[in-house]
Amino acid sequence: MHKTLDSAQFRKVMARFVTGVTIVTSRAGEEVHGMTCNAFCSISIAPLTVMVCLTRNSRTERLIGKGRVFAVNVLSESQTDLSDRFAGRHKERDENRFDGFPWTTAVTGAPIFKGSQAYVDCKLMKTFDGGSHIIHLGEVVAAHTDNLKRPLIFYQSRYMGLASLKPLE
Ligand SMILES: Cc1cc2nc3c(=O)[nH]c(=O)nc-3n(C[C@H](O)[C@H](O)[C@H](O)COP(=O)(O)O)c2cc1C
Repeated sequence: MHKTLDSAQFRKVMARFVTGVTIVTSRAGEEVHGMTCNAFCSISIAPLTVMVCLTRNSRTERLIGKGRVFAVNVLSESQTDLSDRFAGRHKERDENRFDGFPWTTAVTGAPIFKGSQAYVDCKLMKTFDGGSHIIHLGEVVAAHTDNLKRPLIFYQSRYMGLASLKPLE
């Protein structure tokens, strides 16, 4: 018999699943915000669809509800500082997380960071109740990769790089 599961054990197990790191950004009018997110995956090819799963009532989740767009910035190994900032780890900079990190836009107006290894720019299609989190499906309306960048990896709550990876075509 298994003993009753607690959330610490659940987190420990999930931390064994290697992920990349993204920043999910959104925009409503002139307001922009975003958060570091590794709950990101591809869902469908027709229509082109991705999923991000964000804490209910977080600033980013509420802004996506308002603006109905989001971009997913797939980070490169040199962007640990950006990841920490958008995870709220620079307390003194949490009012404006974008300060010092140049960004641009593609189609929807959601912020896209310079130096990321890839991005998808999305229109919100649907949301689903995911308990403590809200599941967002987005239709991809623009996408880009930078083949010279190498990925930032997250494993057991630590950042890592793929040291042996050669530049890809
Ligand atoms: C590597 C990493 C991955 C994260 N992934 C997620 C995630 O998938 N979903 C989520 O809701 N929060 C995730 N977080 C936590 C958020 O980035 C953090 O709570 C952030 O401050 C939320 O911002 P907001 O409340 O201002 O929107 C992650 C943090 C880190 C460092």
